[in-house]
Amino acid sequence: MNNGANALFTRAVRGESVERFPVWMMRQAGRYLPGYMAVRAKTPFLDLCRSPELAAQVTLEPIERFDADAAIVFADILLTADAMGVEVTFPPTGGPQFVSPIRTVADVARVHEPDTARTRCVAETVRILRTTLPASKAVIGFSAAPFTLCAYMIEGGSSRDFILTRRFAHEHPAAFEELMLRSANALIPYLQEQVAAGADVLQLFDTWGSTLPPDLYARWVLPMTKHVIDGLGADRPPVIYFPGIGSAARLEAAAGIGADALSLDWQTDLAHAYATVGDTVRLQGNLDPALLLTTPERIRAATHDMLSQVPAGRPQLVNLGHGIHKDTPPENAGAFIEAAQAFRPSTAASL
Ligand code: CP3
Repeated sequence: MNNGANALFTRAVRGESVERFPVWMMRQAGRYLPGYMAVRAKTPFLDLCRSPELAAQVTLEPIERFDADAAIVFADILLTADAMGVEVTFPPTGGPQFVSPIRTVADVARVHEPDTARTRCVAETVRILRTTLPASKAVIGFSAAPFTLCAYMIEGGSSRDFILTRRFAHEHPAAFEELMLRSANALIPYLQEQVAAGADVLQLFDTWGSTLPPDLYARWVLPMTKHVIDGLGADRPPVIYFPGIGSAARLEAAAGIGADALSLDWQTDLAHAYATVGDTVRLQGNLDPALLLTTPERIRAATHDMLSQVPAGRPQLVNLGHGIHKDTPPENAGAFIEAAQAFRPSTAASL
């Protein structure tokens, strides 16, 4: 198990110096790929998440096509909500929809301990991936971070401003904290199952973590994420935390919760981020996914410019600043991966 422990990507997350920067893309198994679309034409989204053989197949498509350095298990962050009794559906368009969102203090009481049987399919997919992939490729397991999971449960789906979540946190702090704690405690066994099945690295997605004002962010978003990381125990694999859209001003605080790496959104200045976090954590990212809608030449130039900002001797984890857009031409995704893999980092010695 965990035989990707010495894969290029895993070594780089741990902070070892590497001969080249590893690369993968958030949402790399998705609607821009023809193989994925062919599977989805016959399989509803949740059925796909719950069919380990098929989920493994779509996970592998970007690895086979582009030779990405890491495979992220095909699943969704909202499966944990479902396991806690907060049922979610994925209609063909419009994003996820919760059947009965958490809107009142009384609603929090129905969020129960996770039924791990409902998410075992994800660990099963990880197991297939780890036995299929060579040791040179890392397998990434993932979950939401507590805040982003709670935000979806409260909003009942995607949201522009998370106004219901912010209101709930201000108005019912004790109930909000209880919801966060139940979520954090549900995420720990979910991630541990993925590790037991062979996940080499874990990523926690807090896409909307930065929507809370500074006081509530400091009180709940980071401590509850830290609670999950600490709960994984001393033998845990490396953890990457995505503090989400608009998190540039919060990187220093986010670097202090014990994650091995932070994943940056596309709005963050990479050189500034390195100056902010020093060598406490590694950084992942953060090309604007919109660039992948342009041309291979532009993508190559932008990738080179981005990676030229990485300080000598630091191992950058190359990625996008958010999920790949569904209209991305596959050859443009390929150009990005190729450009990242062709880049040769400057070494400390050459300074
Ligand atoms: O990266 C990967 O390839 C692995 C799979 C993965 C998915 N979702 C598959 C998916 C991962 C890592 C996620 C995480 C996820 N899910 C996040 C955090 C990262 C982010 O993108 O912000 C969030 C917020 C979700 C919740 C979610 N799932 C939303 C808001 C949506 C609808 C948006 C959309 O793009 O349609 C989903 C659906 C979803 N999850 C799809 C995929 C491939 C699209 C479903 C489809 O096939 O129609």
